[in-house]
Amino acid sequence: APLSQDELKTLVGQAALRYVVPGEIVGVGTGSTVNKFIDALASMKDQIKGAVSSSVASTERLQALGIPVFDANAVTSLSVYIDGADEIDGQGYMVKGGGAALTREKIVAALAQQFVCIADESKLVPALGNFPLPVEVIPMAAGQIARKFEAMGATATLRLKDGQPLVTDNGQHILDVRGLQISAPLAFESEVNQWPGVVTVGVFAHQKAQVCLLGCAEGVRTIT
Ligand code: A5P
Repeated sequence: APLSQDELKTLVGQAALRYVVPGEIVGVGTGSTVNKFIDALASMKDQIKGAVSSSVASTERLQALGIPVFDANAVTSLSVYIDGADEIDGQGYMVKGGGAALTREKIVAALAQQFVCIADESKLVPALGNFPLPVEVIPMAAGQIARKFEAMGATATLRLKDGQPLVTDNGQHILDVRGLQISAPLAFESEVNQWPGVVTVGVFAHQKAQVCLLGCAEGVRTIT
């Protein structure tokens, strides 16, 4: 039988272990694929110093497995950051934030020399923009930011949870933007970053992946 999406995630989560440097602190992302990596990392916990985490959810999972979690300010550099993506293109540019953790993910990614993306093959796209783009915003700016996306021909909706605006780990809100074609990810990221009230745009171009471990029917494909 072909491998299920869940099995593909397990496979790439395990494959990422060979990028973990013994004796060091590893950067850890967020999401269902990273959860498989965290579970696999438990087998190496006596060989590493610990982790810097990109979300409350990942911190709790790491600590439950006995892996020490360090504050991001306690490190000046990480060799590697391992995280999933909602979309990744052939150049390593990504859309992230489906799990609302994009701000801390970008912060930890920026500390790392190498971003290793782990994903099942459904995440590989020819161009970014099909997945609704998450943008973390200061709540009082949500309306004006939504109108700026609308002027680009897109639609932006406030992400809800249990009927209320979702509140991120940083106490802010998320807009999900549909109908964008992100043909120039670096320029797009730079532009949206200039808008007042934008905390983080879910395009990871300046913090792109150097390596992608893609779970496919034939096994793990490494794209560099
Ligand atoms: C979290 O905010 C996201 O950036 C995740 O990295 C992304 O949603 C991937 O999650 P899955 O591995 O669950 O698809």
